[in-house]
Amino acid sequence: MTLQKETEVYDTFLLTQPYPQQLVSPFRLKDNTEVIIRPIQPDDEALLVRFHDHLSERSVYFRYFHMIGLSQRTDHERLRDICRIDYKYEMVLVATLTDHRTGLPAILGVGRLNRLPGEQEAEFAVVVGDCWQGQGLGIQLVRRLIAYARSEKLARVVGEIHPDNRLMQQICLKLGFKRHYSIEDRLLFVSLAL
Ligand SMILES: CC(C)(COP(=O)(O)OP(=O)(O)OC[C@H]1O[C@@H](n2cnc3c(N)ncnc32)[C@H](O)[C@@H]1OP(=O)(O)O)[C@@H](O)C(=O)NCCC(=O)NCCS
Repeated sequence: MTLQKETEVYDTFLLTQPYPQQLVSPFRLKDNTEVIIRPIQPDDEALLVRFHDHLSERSVYFRYFHMIGLSQRTDHERLRDICRIDYKYEMVLVATLTDHRTGLPAILGVGRLNRLPGEQEAEFAVVVGDCWQGQGLGIQLVRRLIAYARSEKLARVVGEIHPDNRLMQQICLKLGFKRHYSIEDRLLFVSLAL
């Protein structure tokens, strides 16, 4: 089968996956702004490009543990894979808001949960746009990913955190994650039994 044919077959398969509508619901930020948290959709790619365009170097570093340039983060194939997920095996939640002045939607934060092959556990990662940090969105995205993992009957949610990332550590502490520092990797490994 040619690569193009394979892609077409895969796309058709993904389009037959039902959109998890039950995971769409509003959330009120601390400043009273109402956002919608929902699973990502195939046509969210342009919104993700804009989201990445506004991320600070500090946020990028804390999310990926090294600097990744904008062009690499917004690479079409990378974003296409993030937007076209098989909801059966992974989940990407986005928090969105429609800008009243322009009428355009925007993504304010992204939370990902990837199942580890052959394991009953999944790894989470989250990033909130700099302008929207400290409004309760980060912890809410992690809460929803945990709830989703529970509904999927997973045994554990795990994550990796930079040791200087006090805010993320605070969130994990609040949510009951256990943590372990790896001297070798210079990272904190967190784990929550469900
Ligand atoms: C880490 C990150 C996801 C947190 O999201 P956020 O929306 O900024 O954080 P929240 O507003 O949800 O804060 C969660 C908790 O942290 C604490 N907190 C928030 N702002 C704080 C501050 N300025 N100082 C100290 N504690 C703070 C609070 O206890 C808060 O809980 P509460 O809302 O119940 O009071 C976000 O800052 C981010 O995207 N950072 C860059 C990428 C990153 O670090 N990703 C993590 C990789 S796993």
